[in-house]
Amino acid sequence: MRFRSITAADLATCDAVIVSVAAGGSVPAVLPRALRSRAERLVKAAGIGRLYSVDTDFGAKPERLVVVGVGASAAVTSERVRRAAATGIRSLLRAKVRRVALVLDPAVESRLGAASVVAASVSGALQAVYRRESHRSKPDAAPAPRTVGLLGSAVSGAALRRGAAWGEAAVFTRRLANEPGNLMTPERVAEEARALAKETGLAIEVLEAASCRKLGMHSFLSVAQGSHTPPKLIVLRHRGRTGTGVDLALVGKGITFDTGGISIKPADGMHHMKADMTGAAAVIGAIGAVARLKVKANVIAVAPCTENMPGSAATKPGDVFTSMSGKTVEVINTDAEGRLVLIDALTYAQREGARRIVDIATLTGAIQVALGDHFSGLFGRPDAFVAHVRELAESVGDRLWPMPLTDEFRDEVRGEVADLRNQAGRPGGASKAAAFLDAVVDQKAEWAHLDIASQDWLASDKPWSSGGPQAPGVHTLIALAEEAAPSIAG
Ligand code: BES
Ligand code: MN
Ligand code: ZN
Repeated sequence: MRFRSITAADLATCDAVIVSVAAGGSVPAVLPRALRSRAERLVKAAGIGRLYSVDTDFGAKPERLVVVGVGASAAVTSERVRRAAATGIRSLLRAKVRRVALVLDPAVESRLGAASVVAASVSGALQAVYRRESHRSKPDAAPAPRTVGLLGSAVSGAALRRGAAWGEAAVFTRRLANEPGNLMTPERVAEEARALAKETGLAIEVLEAASCRKLGMHSFLSVAQGSHTPPKLIVLRHRGRTGTGVDLALVGKGITFDTGGISIKPADGMHHMKADMTGAAAVIGAIGAVARLKVKANVIAVAPCTENMPGSAATKPGDVFTSMSGKTVEVINTDAEGRLVLIDALTYAQREGARRIVDIATLTGAIQVALGDHFSGLFGRPDAFVAHVRELAESVGDRLWPMPLTDEFRDEVRGEVADLRNQAGRPGGASKAAAFLDAVVDQKAEWAHLDIASQDWLASDKPWSSGGPQAPGVHTLIALAEEAAPSIAG
């Protein structure tokens, strides 16, 4: 799919035109009269995500008009814009259209900024054509449109390239998360990262178990020891400015399959746990976009990847390990493995010199209970940094909700036989997991933790997205890198 900037005159060469409309707003005046009145008749009250799709009956192009509601104009967000674009494109997949026009609403552009609207629309369109049925012997052929033309006030080539990089990072994340556990092993994640590094000019280093052992990553390795499949710690480096130092570190949980280990999970829904490496895929995808966009900041991505399996060599509840930080951990529950791999990766990132660190992980079922699939949990310190991450996330279409991380939770993860215990009862489970990570993060660091277990998997297809793996947080990671640079490179 290719993206370009178009004018109203180009509409006559398009097969379909997608218009998103806010409730109470008006249909963009740039549309030719006939189309506009047709659209106006369709939208008396444009509810969120409401879709109206009709033949134009003009006997000429565009033959189809799609109107998508984005909700009240005062409450419109980048996320709504992305969903509207995705909903519109998805509604056309069966219609075999080749050229589609996406008309941006000037009121929305001025509210959110043209750059945000372009990025959200392009990312939405790219994600709309992502399909998860890659292993069917007879793939369901629903061809994507060839070109998507954006009609708006400030659609530049740079804005389109930026949107495409964002969308590709999200699709990359979803593709990796969707691959079954027997195929998307730690080695395969490393191969994907190597291919991306080669394509985008990132430096890559893949640490084998022996190197991790030398570094003292016994917490990470305690998860890996139950599996025959070797673990990999993937490190990607983007050097976007002269001089040393790391401006931002991205750390992602990479459990390529989570059985729970000896504290084994129930069978129902366990196949979703192939997506327990969404955090790793997200940081790899995001740093790929950072490299493509030549962001002028030094960024690293660290992805500890392993299976979590039961087996004769697996960790037993009660076992104690020393993490790379020097802190000892009592493993109460082998299913609380994400925090075990993350503390060593967080320590590694800090040894690399990172003082601003964001981790992303499908960490707890508790965050699902708290937030449903509408938000991901946001934790961290100091408060000002967390508040900033939340705002930035909102502006790029991710929905993060701040969760408590206080000394009460820190006290609860203190161990009886070791410094830390990896489980401390169900109540407040997401905050306890965050408090566990907190124990290895330097007091002077700026740190945010995104628990995406609520949003990484959509139970069923929606108008704006195919079900299964999603990519929450990826845009936020890229935006954090962009803002670490003095200016955004196009
Ligand atoms: N990968 C799971 C969390 C998860 C749950 C992700 C649902 C996506 C959907 C994680 O490793 C886990 O098993 N967490 C346990 C922790 C508990 C044992 C302290 C949980 O949330 O039940
Ligand atoms: Mn688990
Ligand atoms: Zn897990």
